Amino acid sequence: MKRRTRPAWTEGPRTLAFGPVGFSGGKFPAVSFAVGADAYDRFMGRYSAPLAPAFADFAAVVGASRVLDVGCGPGSLTAELVRRVGPAAVAAVDPSDSFVTAAHARFPAVDVRRATAEQLPFEDRAFHATLAQLVVHFMSEPVTGLREMARVTRDGGVVAACVWDHDGGEGPLSLFWDAARELDRDVEDESRLAGTRKGHLAQLFGEAGLDAIEETALRITVEHPTFEDWWEPFTLGVGPAGVYVAGLDVIRQGELRER
Ligand SMILES: C[S@@+](CC[C@H](N)C(=O)[O-])C[C@H]1O[C@@H](n2cnc3c(N)ncnc32)[C@H](O)[C@@H]1O
Repeated sequence: MKRRTRPAWTEGPRTLAFGPVGFSGGKFPAVSFAVGADAYDRFMGRYSAPLAPAFADFAAVVGASRVLDVGCGPGSLTAELVRRVGPAAVAAVDPSDSFVTAAHARFPAVDVRRATAEQLPFEDRAFHATLAQLVVHFMSEPVTGLREMARVTRDGGVVAACVWDHDGGEGPLSLFWDAARELDRDVEDESRLAGTRKGHLAQLFGEAGLDAIEETALRITVEHPTFEDWWEPFTLGVGPAGVYVAGLDVIRQGELRER
């Protein structure tokens, strides 16, 4: 079966660069996406919204396509896909109740369902393109998830995924994890998750049986008006970084903030 497949990672300038990284086979024990859409948008949506057009370009999403957004969150990529192909041609899934509710509210004409990549509730070959933006590293079974994405994609269609360059230190959270590591050498950052090192997404795509694999780096720039504007969303409990901050006492939080 011939199918175009496209993994990408994202890079950026020193404090805001991203890319693909390594895989330990392990998972964060307490990754939290059981947060409101507003918290997500302030913490990660500020990066994932500007990433979405570049990623959709890379995946060659154009009109007259039926497209699936896997791990849609509150809908940063969904919004871009709707803009390109219209809401009736977009479907989206996410395991987080709060994100599914938010995506439903934001895109009432999009088919939004609560599901994981590993068990997609769609028929074989239902989509022209299946995309996962910043999701593979959170899948419990990344190869299974990518294989499922391939199953629901037509022959000759596109399966695409991107993650931040956590291992290369060019992700938007790298500055934060660098500071955390200076205070605690044993801190478990995100640099060992699936696909977060250069070449590893392509390796996972190959293991999932995909072929004609293309790999590239995507780069975006986001400016923060003040330090507080950058820091405050880390205190909202979103994702591994937010969970890490929430687990620190007030003194350690203050030390990390100062660092
Ligand atoms: C960093 S967010 C990315 C959200 C959105 N794609 C974006 O670009 O803003 C990671 C998302 O992956 C979802 N997720 C976690 N495990 C998943 C899985 N096994 N299958 C699909 N989505 C998953 C989370 O609920 C969360 O919404």
